[in-house]
Amino acid sequence: MFTIITGAQFGDEGKGKIVDLMSGNYDLVVRFQGGDNAGHTVKVGEDVYKLHLIPSGFLLDSRVLIGPGTVLNPEVLAREMDMLAEGGIVLTPEKLGVDAKTSIIMPYHVELDGLKESRRTEKIGTTKRGIGFAYIDKVARDEVRMADLADPEKLRCRLLELAPSKEAAIRELEGDPAIVTSKDLMDKYVELGRRLAPYMTDVSYEINKALEDGRNVLAEGAQGTHLDVIHGTQKFVTSSSTVAGSACANLGVGPTKVDEVLGIVKAYITRVGEGPLPTELTDETGRRIQQVGREFGTTTGRARRCGWFDLPLLRKAIYLNGYTSLALTKLDVLSGLAQVKVCVAYELDSRIVDYPPEGTAELARCRPVYEDLPGWESDLTGVKSFDDLPGAAQQYVRYLENKMGVPITYVSVGPGREQTFQR
Ligand code: IMP
Repeated sequence: MFTIITGAQFGDEGKGKIVDLMSGNYDLVVRFQGGDNAGHTVKVGEDVYKLHLIPSGFLLDSRVLIGPGTVLNPEVLAREMDMLAEGGIVLTPEKLGVDAKTSIIMPYHVELDGLKESRRTEKIGTTKRGIGFAYIDKVARDEVRMADLADPEKLRCRLLELAPSKEAAIRELEGDPAIVTSKDLMDKYVELGRRLAPYMTDVSYEINKALEDGRNVLAEGAQGTHLDVIHGTQKFVTSSSTVAGSACANLGVGPTKVDEVLGIVKAYITRVGEGPLPTELTDETGRRIQQVGREFGTTTGRARRCGWFDLPLLRKAIYLNGYTSLALTKLDVLSGLAQVKVCVAYELDSRIVDYPPEGTAELARCRPVYEDLPGWESDLTGVKSFDDLPGAAQQYVRYLENKMGVPITYVSVGPGREQTFQR
């Protein structure tokens, strides 16, 4: 079985928790796009790990893979492996694999990302992890690949070949080009390459072989649908394709192999960074959702902007991903509100539309049209099944399901594994 999971909104929907919950049923859990701009918090007993690269499935028996469509900062990966090892979780090459074609994020990518963002008059609000610049190099065929990193001679040659253009790019943005060829940097990357070389693999082969042998594979998306570089709210997007189809292209698995596409959606909406968010709440309710939902980024610590559930954006996410089912997360955060609002359409230049306009500027002009639903008082964090939810919370879930036309198969009411139930 091949299942793809993606975020249906702007990222931070709680994908990690659902993947962690599901990964017991999967032999391989694979990341297919993005880099350490993603972030998830994993709780193991009393230990809390904040991870950016290692797929969420590492805790169970599944083998975890980082696919060739991702961009990988080897320093971050090594740090995460060390952090887990300190807690007694050792990731051996049997447990973790990195595709030989994965593009490596180099320090000059991080430097360029920071310099460029600080000079933009209209900011994107990137995570400054060098993601966009690593993808630029991938497309320009100027990247350092995992296979180059693993071979000291190749790495030295590649870096010397690339150095003049990287130095020029940094100089143009008034940065310090010394970072490109410093001896320390070269030595450090040679060492990282030596360490990561045993993990190198062919992810496409591994997945196809596993599927042929009747094993189960879970592709774990990062960020969210509306941050997709093609279909998202350009230019306020990330640099990879975050929608489900990208899993096939990036992992080298044919679309005929896909069995399920699960979308993760929060019971409200959040966005971190710039760009339109039609239902954004800048009032007390927004601040309350932010505090109760602990809506602060794992990667940058930035406060996430919060708003009511946005159905037009979800309709688009359903089209873009072809979801077969949905998981609704953080329902508990809405407890204690007298009324819960759902945006069912937008008013755009005196017209009512129920699907987002193509242009980002037009989306920014959209004013939400709301329907009000009754709220519920009680705390949901101890609820163990759908039937035990208060009537108004059940009504909210059923209402969203009817409007979206896709079954909500999981509901979560807190960060713990036991706080997610299947319907
Ligand atoms: P970049 O991916 O660092 O280039 O950032 C581009 C945009 O995507 C910014 O608005 C970021 O805040 C946003 N972004 C990147 N990764 C994540 C994520 O994992 N969750 C939510 N937003 C993200």
